[in-house]
Formats: sequence, structure tokens, C-alpha cells
Amino acid sequence: MNRLLITSLMIFALTTMCEGVFWGITHVKVINGLEPQSDVIAHCRSKDDDIGVIQLRHNDSFQFQFRPNFWKKTLFYCSFVWPGQVQWFDIFKHSRDDCKFCTWSVRTGGPCMYNYTAETFDRCFKWNKKNPVY
Ligand SMILES: *[C@@H]1O[C@H](CO)[C@@H](O)[C@H](O)[C@H]1NC(C)=O
Ligand SMILES: *[C@@H]1O[C@H](CO)[C@@H](O)[C@H](O)[C@H]1NC(C)=O
Repeated sequence: MNRLLITSLMIFALTTMCEGVFWGITHVKVINGLEPQSDVIAHCRSKDDDIGVIQLRHNDSFQFQFRPNFWKKTLFYCSFVWPGQVQWFDIFKHSRDDCKFCTWSVRTGGPCMYNYTAETFDRCFKWNKKNPVY
């Protein structure tokens, strides 16, 4: 085989492998859907990344993206602070969430995930227990 063909085959194999390893990029969007309406201060982090402290007015949102790791261990968690409340939630947990565009409405009782088929926030979760040990 000539060198060029071998090189092309290797590049092809490597590209295919990398796509498999990285699974592309996951986007997480968080909307302030609190009722009664209130600003919320969100702080999302993973073991390796800190998205920063973000203040959201009612209906405002922010997004972040990342490449989940191959072993489905990626975990991003957020604190949400609004008057009289401090809550925590695992905003992306690869073992639970299999979305590429994960859109959440933060509600008083806990966040609800957007279902793009049903066009509604139909998967609602309870807040994490407080004082997380991450
Ligand atoms: C917030 O968004 C919801 C859903 O899109 C909409 O029905 C509502 O009118 C919005 N509220 C405000 C104050 O913009
Ligand atoms: C999204 O909505 C569709 C249609 O109602 C439903 O069949 C599907 O199970 C929902 N997906 C999830 C992940 O709940």
C-alpha cells in the first residue's frame, strides 16, 4: 500500500474514534421560571469547571456547553439562591440525562426539563438534599 493511503486510513480511524470518545458537545440551558417571580442567583460547577455566578431575572436564561466524558461520569451541579431559599440540583448527570440540548426551567419545587417532542417542561425533579458532599 502506498503511504498516502495508509495515512488516510489512519486519519479516518482516528477521527471516527475521537467522535466516539467525545460524543460531541452537550448544551445546558437554565431558565428562571420561579413563581412567584423573583431573581435567582445560579452558580454551576463540575469537578473541573466553574461556570460562574449568574443572576437571572424572571424568564431570563443562560447556557453553557461542554464535552461529556466517555465514561458517562460527567456531573454539573448548581446552587440556586433566591429570597429565603438556597437549593441545589445536579443540572447535568450523564447517567440520568441523555440530552444534547438540555433545557431546564427552574421552578420553586425543583427544575423541570424541556421535552422537545411534547414542547413542554414535563420532567420535573426535586431539589437535591442540602449541604451536598461533592
Ligand atoms: C415568561 O415565559 C412564559 C413562557 O414563555 C410566558 O408565558 C410568560 O408570559 C413570560 N413572562 C414574562 C413576564 O415575560
Ligand atoms: C416527551 O414527550 C413525548 C410525547 O408526549 C413522550 O412520548 C416522551 O416519553 C417524552 N420524553 C421524555 C424523556 O419524557
